Amino acid sequence: MKKIDSLDKLIATVKKTENIPTLPKVLTKISEEIDNDNFSIKNIGDLMSRDVSLSARILKIVNSPFYGFPQRIYSINHAIVLLGANVLKSIVISTSVFTAMEEAMTGLSEHSLFCAFASKHIAQEINKNIKKTGETGKLKSNEKQKQQQTVDPDNMFAVGLLHDIGKIIIATTFKEDFKTILETARKEEKPLEKVEHEILNISHDQLGYMLVKEWNLPSAIYIPIKYHHNPTLADDFKKETAILNIADFLTRAMGVGFSGSAYLEKINTDSMNILEINIDFIKSAIEEIYLYKDELNIFD
Ligand SMILES: [Fe+2]
Ligand SMILES: [Fe+2]
Repeated sequence: MKKIDSLDKLIATVKKTENIPTLPKVLTKISEEIDNDNFSIKNIGDLMSRDVSLSARILKIVNSPFYGFPQRIYSINHAIVLLGANVLKSIVISTSVFTAMEEAMTGLSEHSLFCAFASKHIAQEINKNIKKTGETGKLKSNEKQKQQQTVDPDNMFAVGLLHDIGKIIIATTFKEDFKTILETARKEEKPLEKVEHEILNISHDQLGYMLVKEWNLPSAIYIPIKYHHNPTLADDFKKETAILNIADFLTRAMGVGFSGSAYLEKINTDSMNILEINIDFIKSAIEEIYLYKDELNIFD
């Protein structure tokens, strides 16, 4: 078993392997089109319609109870108009990495999807709290203004879905080491990222950050991924990182899917402080998030 002694070497190894999930060409094109400030719905619709399975999946997702649109959506162009660029982009990314996740580790796709549901749900609840305090208090300082900024729930859906993507790199590039990591985490009852560090000198949160950056996704996605096990270290997107941290914790605590280790730490109080939430918030979030268990098949 080789320890990775330099990040450069690791990046080189990762880049050499053919197993790294890449965004299919059509997705890269769609993503580029969306990033374009004056993107055209028609262009995106055309690109998507060329990929039959992608269009079918998108229509299935937008027609799922999770999105809860009152009328049925029959065409991709209609979906784009209703959902907007951000949601669309997160769905596009999600559909492409889902199979790779399923192949990397049994339970990882369920863990990631449920974490995405939980992240989006918590973001919406946090936004409601922000609105309430905004209406009642006169908040002036910079710090308070930052605290008043809402988070984008659909961005949080993408963040939740991709947060453990680094595990795919370990599972495919360092197959034998990954087995040892899982086995050690199980025997020694340790969090996975700790064991990854002991064995590889790097952990999935850092690797995921690298991969997502490589795909040219925005910092609102890669920063929370980078710090999802240490939210206080994030300088930007602190709230997003704390939401992801809590959503990941709740997903594991509720036993949905498998994230690589049965170890469960205590809830991160730093994340709760960043979000200014208490245990009652967590309790009602659990009750509401639980209902999403029935939606885990939206990518099937
Ligand atoms: Fe993680
Ligand atoms: Fe996770």
